[in-house]
Order: sequence, then structure tokens, then C-alpha cells
Amino acid sequence: MCGIAGYIGYREAYPIVINGLKRLEYRGYDSSGVMLYDGKEIQLSKTKGKVSDLEVITNKEEERKKGRIGIGHTRWATHGVPNDINSHPHVSQSGDLVIVHNGIIENYDSLKKELISRGYVFQSDTDTEVLINLIEEVKKTEKCKLGKAVQLALTSVIGAYAIAVFDKTKPNELVVARLGSPIAIGIGKENKEFFVASDASPFIEYTKEAIYIEDEEMAIIKLGKKIQVRKIQNDALVNHNVLELQMSLEQIEKGGYDHFMIKEIHEQPKAIIDTYRGRMLPDQGMIKMSGIDDHLSKFLHADRIIIIACGTSWHAGLVGEYLLEEFVRIPVEVEYASEFRYRNPVITSKDIVIAISQSGETADTLAAIKLAKSKGAFVFGVCNVVGSSIARETHAGAYTHAGPEIGVASTKAFTTQITVLSLIALKLAKEKGTFSESRFQNYLRTLELIPNQIEQLLNIDATVKEIAAVYKDAKNCLYLGRGFNFPVALEGALKLKEISYIHAEGYPAAEMKHGPIALIDENMPIFVIATSKGHYEKVVSNIQEIKSRSGKIIAIVTEGDTQVKEIADHVIEIPETEEAFTPLLTTIPFQLLSYHIAVMLDKNVDQPRNLAKSVTVE
Ligand code: M6R
Repeated sequence: MCGIAGYIGYREAYPIVINGLKRLEYRGYDSSGVMLYDGKEIQLSKTKGKVSDLEVITNKEEERKKGRIGIGHTRWATHGVPNDINSHPHVSQSGDLVIVHNGIIENYDSLKKELISRGYVFQSDTDTEVLINLIEEVKKTEKCKLGKAVQLALTSVIGAYAIAVFDKTKPNELVVARLGSPIAIGIGKENKEFFVASDASPFIEYTKEAIYIEDEEMAIIKLGKKIQVRKIQNDALVNHNVLELQMSLEQIEKGGYDHFMIKEIHEQPKAIIDTYRGRMLPDQGMIKMSGIDDHLSKFLHADRIIIIACGTSWHAGLVGEYLLEEFVRIPVEVEYASEFRYRNPVITSKDIVIAISQSGETADTLAAIKLAKSKGAFVFGVCNVVGSSIARETHAGAYTHAGPEIGVASTKAFTTQITVLSLIALKLAKEKGTFSESRFQNYLRTLELIPNQIEQLLNIDATVKEIAAVYKDAKNCLYLGRGFNFPVALEGALKLKEISYIHAEGYPAAEMKHGPIALIDENMPIFVIATSKGHYEKVVSNIQEIKSRSGKIIAIVTEGDTQVKEIADHVIEIPETEEAFTPLLTTIPFQLLSYHIAVMLDKNVDQPRNLAKSVTVE
């Protein structure tokens, strides 16, 4: 969690760092801060609250904005409550060294005691202030430069970090390092300027050239020189290829929408096309996925597939379970990465693990991947962020190509993950012979229609808004679905909880009678998915059960439905498709509904309280 943005070069650093922090606020936003160096003095501004609160402070004094070197931070608190003092950057005792940090120093307590015994006094409750003083102590005792001090200090640190460090006595350089949290370095023309950030979005309008340092690496960034990347453990030099960034500025801006979430909801048709472009080839009757093709025999002879993920990605994984079992007839288990990593799971080299993650940085998923690999499993990643830690840690994988997702509540990440899983299931069904050629072709053509169908479905926005107005004050909601749409019920409930703070539960429709039915009364809105091929009659019976207990029914049905229309209070129609692909459609009304309710309740849609876009801590 937390976002880091920094600049060193010939331009004024302040606007670059501040705008960069705004783009990184999805990573955390409970406090923020910036350090500028104008060649004489360090200017430190920090506060509890968002980057806009920080701007209120910096706007009061122009001096605070001056300098061609700057590092900034937007925080998601781990050690120490969000307040002005605990906000980053943190300064060392001498006042010379300044740090911003994303991650957790697990052994900070013992390090702090040691430093206190050597005369250090701490202002904040953070692990980060311990780290910067540790670096200072090493620099002093070893009489070395900043780079060496950072390297030596980090060898005694346990935990996770992405850091950027500045030394007032050597003001033409920045030192960055990472373990478990990402750092991208943007490279300006002729090395006359450099940018550092948690992802490339803060510097995309300045340079398309970047390197991503790996775990246990650090980089010494000096103006006018080539970046030096070294291994933290043994100081060995590492050669990194400079990458050409594909991201555009337009992709990371709101483009006329009020919020990123609604923009990303509307981007889904295009995102899904981007996901299957070049992979799904109906005219050639095939699906091409190099990550699968290169390891086909492993997939065809696997005993079992285990899907690991967190949050929304876990819900996509559940849809994947239904898809893979139905299409490929292979046993699939779906696990929360956070549970899997600590329960000594039984895994063999005949298991395939599919790890799903939008950010590619989720700490629990990353740890679960490492565990699965250590037990001999082949690990396949489904990630959105190119070059992310999970993408690099897995043996093979498929990107979702959804484009940057900025809204904390996942929308297009979910549907593109399901699209990738559908492609994998279809491909394996064809290769394994569990689908006839004509069934395969038919499914391909049906999947190809989905983006247009979503486009059409997005026209229900006004209807959904009306429904949102009716139920926005509900205290509790129930979401029900069966089969392929049970995970959509879970996802619908999660979306509502995340951004409107209304309590909601997702349940398999038939499980309602085993407990949740006790909650139903005239105040309880119940969102039910009743698609025509999804155990329709059974779900209709569930709807009747709700009706006879006076619950309010909002049903999602297939176009042309008549039966549910007669019973439900509100009905939303989705276009006809194969039942296996309905999650790609049924989820859209739920996304819109949560969005409108949150807007009506005046909640912060893109940055809901207590959440962060990528959860890089346990
Ligand atoms: O980046 P990941 O897909 O690994 O993130 C997993 C979850 O943290 C994420 O899906 C979270 O649940 C979202 N806020 C859901 O909207």
C-alpha cells in the first residue's frame, strides 16, 4: 500500500510529485506529504488527509513548492495512526536524510531499541522513521555514501519495502530500493531527469522509458549518469533493459466521467475486446494463448487446478471453477490466498495453480504463489498490471489487458479476468476433446458477442439509478445467485459494501433457506439473479419464498422473461447468452447499482474509506 512519487532533474519537482501522488492515491490516502529541496533547504510539508489537503498547506507558502528534487508519499497506515507526524516523508535525526516508504519493517521494534540506545530520539510511531535513522547510523559508522548505507542497512531489515531516499549532502542523487513493493524509474532524455514512482502513471507524460527494479534490488539514480542497479544482499551490479511504456495519459484520466469507477464500468466492452484480441480467432477455429500453448501438456495432464486470489479476483476465480469444471472436466479448487499460504496445503507437481490478481502486487497472493512453487506446482498468473510482481513470479501467464484500473472497487478487472478464464477453459476443452468442434465454435461466437451486449446493457443506467434511489437507505441487502452466478452475487454484495458502506451478503440462492431467510422482512432488498438457463425454476421458487415473507425483490432476468416479472418488485433484463458467460452480463447492473447508491449517499466512490487499490501488506 502507499504511493511513492519522486523527481530529480531540471524541472520544478512540485507539480510532478503532487500530480503523481494524486494518480497514486488509489494505493492509500489517509495522509500525504512532500519534501522539496531548493539547493539550500529541505522543505517538508505533510498532513493527515488526502493530497488535496496537502495542497492547502503548500499553497499557503510558495517556498514549500520550490526545488528540482522532490519526493512525496500518499499513505495507507500500518504502523502509527494517520496523523501529521506519522505522515511521510520522514527525516533522519541529523536532518540530512529524507525517506518515503511503502511497506512494513517487521523488526522495527528491535532496530528502534538499538537506535535509541545509541542516542536516537523518535518523533513518530512509524517503522519508516526507524529505517531512515538506521541508514543514517550506518552511513555514520561506516563512513560511506548514501547508496552503500542504504544497502548495508537493508541487509538487517526484515519486512517489505519500496523506498526512495534523499541525502541533502549529495543533492544530485536519489536512492531507491524494493522488496515486495513495486518501484518504477522513469528515465528522461540523456539522463537529465529521472522519476521514481510506485507505478509508471505519475511520469507517463514525461517519458515512456522506464525500468522496474526487482525484489532485493536497489538503484542509485544520479543526474547525468546511467542508473546503477545493484543486488542488496551482495552489492553485485545488475543489468536492466529499459522498457517502452505502453500506457497513455488518456487511459489514466477520467475522460469526462465523474469518477474512475463509472468510467471503468463503461470501458468494459473495449477492455474485453482487448482481452481476447489476438487470442480468440473464431475464423481459424482456435484460441491462441502462448502461456498455455507453451505448457499445454502440463495443463492436459494436470490432476487438479487450484485457483488462488483475494477479493474480487477470488470471485472471478470462483467463476473460473465453474467454467473449468464444466468445460474441461478437471477438478478445481478456489482458495483465498491469505488462507492457502498459512495452512500447509497438499500440493504436488501434478497440480496447476492459477493466481489471479488485478494489481499483481497483492501480498497474500504473492506469498501463496511462492509457497505453491516451493511445493513443485506449476503456477500460471492472470494479472492486469504488466511487469507486476505476480506476473514476474509465475511460470507463465496471461495478461487481462484491461488497462489501468484506478477506482478502488474493481469492475473491468473482474470481467476481463472472467474473459481470460473463459478463454483458458474453452482452449483446454478443445485440446482435451471435452467440447466437440461445433460446440467450441458456437461458444467462441457467443463470447465474441459479449462486448456489444454489455454496451447495450449499459443503457439500463437510468433504470438502475431509479432502483438505487429506492434502496439507497437500506441497512442490509442480500444478493442471491446460483451456479455461474453465485460468484456474481458475492461480487455484487462486495461492491455495495465497499463503496456505500451498506452491509450486504452474497449467498447461493438455495442456501437462503438455511439461515439468511430469517433476516427477510419488508425492509430487506434482495437482489436475485434468475437467468433463463441457470436453474431458473429453482430460483423462481426462491423468489416466491422471499415474496411470501414480504422481502423486496430486484431480479436480473434474461430478456423476454415473463414469470419473474410478475413476482418481482423490479426487473432488469440482460441479453441472451450461454449460461457460462452470463456473469459477464449479470455483474453490470450490480456495478451500476453500487455506483449510484454510493454517489447518492455522497460517498467517496473511487477512494472508499479504509481501502486501498493494491494490498501489499498482509
Ligand atoms: O489486485 P488484486 O486483484 O490482487 O486485488 C485483490 C483485492 O484486494 C481486490 O479485488 C479488492 O477486493 C477490490 N477492492 C475489490 O473491488
